[in-house]
Amino acid sequence: MKLTERIRYVGLNDRQTVLFENQWPIPEGVSYNSYLVVDEKVALIDTAAAAFGDAYLENIRREIGDRPVDYLIVNHMEPDHSALQARIRAQYPDVTIVTNAKAVPMIAGFQGITENIRVIKEGENLPLGETSLQFFMAPMVHWPETMVTWCAEEQTLFSGDAFGTFKAVNNNVIDSESNDYESYKEEMTRYYASIVGKYGATVQNALKKLSGLPIKRICSTHGPVWERDIPQVVALYDRLSRYDADPGVVIAYGSMYGNTAKAARALADALESAKIPYALHDLCSENVSYALRDVFRYETLVLGAPTYNNGIFPPVRQLMEAVCDRLVKNRRFFAFGSFTWAGASVRLLNEMAKSAGMELIGDGISFQHAYSPDKCDFGDLLHNLYYVK
Ligand SMILES: Cc1cc2nc3c(=O)[nH]c(=O)nc-3n(C[C@H](O)[C@H](O)[C@H](O)COP(=O)(O)O)c2cc1C
Ligand SMILES: [Fe+2]
Ligand SMILES: [Fe+2]
Repeated sequence: MKLTERIRYVGLNDRQTVLFENQWPIPEGVSYNSYLVVDEKVALIDTAAAAFGDAYLENIRREIGDRPVDYLIVNHMEPDHSALQARIRAQYPDVTIVTNAKAVPMIAGFQGITENIRVIKEGENLPLGETSLQFFMAPMVHWPETMVTWCAEEQTLFSGDAFGTFKAVNNNVIDSESNDYESYKEEMTRYYASIVGKYGATVQNALKKLSGLPIKRICSTHGPVWERDIPQVVALYDRLSRYDADPGVVIAYGSMYGNTAKAARALADALESAKIPYALHDLCSENVSYALRDVFRYETLVLGAPTYNNGIFPPVRQLMEAVCDRLVKNRRFFAFGSFTWAGASVRLLNEMAKSAGMELIGDGISFQHAYSPDKCDFGDLLHNLYYVK
């Protein structure tokens, strides 16, 4: 598929994988994007996931016929983009792999390829004819070997996973009214929160480095090609990587017998009445990535967990650990939960929140046995949500 005369889309949709990275549900699929720059030389930028080799090679053949691929640019070695390198080498034996020094041992280790690899340096140029490619390192977005590729003549940035999103692409690979930023925003945030979330500082470095480029087109490895909506997409990545959030509350809870759940729903009803934006997530019935997405969206995190073996009910502990792992900053925190003989979950959650640098808005509410509004009174919390900050 032609994006321009020289730039072709040869990626594909994956609508069969249930869990991306065997962790994150992708009910709307995902695309593995790969691109050709067709000039006197033909450059292929990244590949695709292992299961799609035949269709992928066919996509390439459809664009260039019997012409060989001269260069395979390796921006990122996660297997969703690198798994077909050996097949490309088998199909095009003279292809030169172009990448940075950090990727070389990964290419050897994952793909068994050690020959005909050209190692480029930061800012180096690769002429293709009328066009050329230039390479910029973007380390830890979200692997150490990550780089991006810039085609100045086409004002196109091949950004790797940066600006990527879950959700397969429709026939318009290029963003337009039918596949615009708004329709990808939630899944882009969930992708970011799940996969890139820990690397806010390095994403910020990459954004700064790229900010001088006159970008007309962002070709990332997942989701639409961004042209029209570049400002919104870049602004979202900028906000997420600064851990900036909207006013609002994410309530995430787990509950075995419904007592903590009743408290969570009572709080959600109170926020609804007070017209405070919120999201409610039951961590026992949905994947943690949905709550994680909203932790990146809202500035207050309220967790409900019963005490379990003197600890935090595991599904809630899992979310809290995921939040701490991602070095989420600038959040307010509150915990509640039911216990039977000796409550511990609220205290332990508060300790985790404090260590993560969150601001506690109250001591939390640990209530014994069944939920009732007087045992679990969110009045102070609601007051603080209104008047603090
Ligand atoms: C396996 C298991 C371990 C538990 N461990 C504790 C505990 O260490 N301390 C405590 O006070 N209650 C403990 N409980 C009791 C729960 O905290 C209590 O039933 C609570 O009301 C459950 O809240 P829920 O209805 O929201 O699930 C445990 C319950 C189970 C099933
Ligand atoms: Fe990746
Ligand atoms: Fe990826």
